[in-house]
Amino acid sequence: MRKSRIVGLLFCLVFPLSGQSEETQVQRGAHVALEVCNACHSLKYIKYDDLMKIGFTKAQVDAMRGDKEMGAPLLSQMAPQDELGMFGTVPPDLSLMAKAREGGAHYIYSMITGFYTDAKGQTQNKVFPGIKMPDVFMIAQADAAGKAAIEKKARDVSVFLAWASDPQAEDRTTLGKYVIAYFVFLTILLFFLKKKIWKKLGNH
Ligand code: HEC
Repeated sequence: MRKSRIVGLLFCLVFPLSGQSEETQVQRGAHVALEVCNACHSLKYIKYDDLMKIGFTKAQVDAMRGDKEMGAPLLSQMAPQDELGMFGTVPPDLSLMAKAREGGAHYIYSMITGFYTDAKGQTQNKVFPGIKMPDVFMIAQADAAGKAAIEKKARDVSVFLAWASDPQAEDRTTLGKYVIAYFVFLTILLFFLKKKIWKKLGNH
């Protein structure tokens, strides 16, 4: 009984259930980032082959990168000088944005869903008044169903940007689980060793 529980515990530690559902959200967010945000924003610290770390196959990444190199960073599709002319500013790189703003992914989510139409019929943003970024999902005009769909996309892309700001986080968690499993194993061994030693002493 006790042995099977220990084995079960070790199994959970070494093969955790984590990551599965979140990973698909990260993947959905990657599509949004590439198809929408990447038109104006770079993610210069993320390369196409990094996308395999979130579970995309090589074939899927090939389809996403088009004629770009596998090792190329996700640079904006617009030239910075064109962006300056169009928006009056160069859209900031998004690789580390989830770390750069207080609130991280929550901030990004609130900002991209924060567009509304004011009394004068102008688009405003309640998180970043006067922002030069357009309402890319047109949430200000959306009806309830449209809003819900946009909010889902915004959540997905925020989760992706949180991953992008620390792509090594998952490796660290995995390593941590192995370390914990090792200590659990060591504790069990030492427990039995202690019992054995005390048994020997008890016989004297
Ligand atoms: C049409 C071009 C365009 C697209 C597409 C676009 N952005 Fe932007 N974004 C901008 C511009 C321009 C700024 C700079 C705004 C400013 O400084 O006023 C900006 C700024 C930002 C900022 C920084 C806000 C801050 O606090 O400084 C974030 C975060 C951001 N965008 C996220 C996104 C995400 C996520 C997407 C994709 C869903 C996206 N953007 C798509 C043009 C764009």
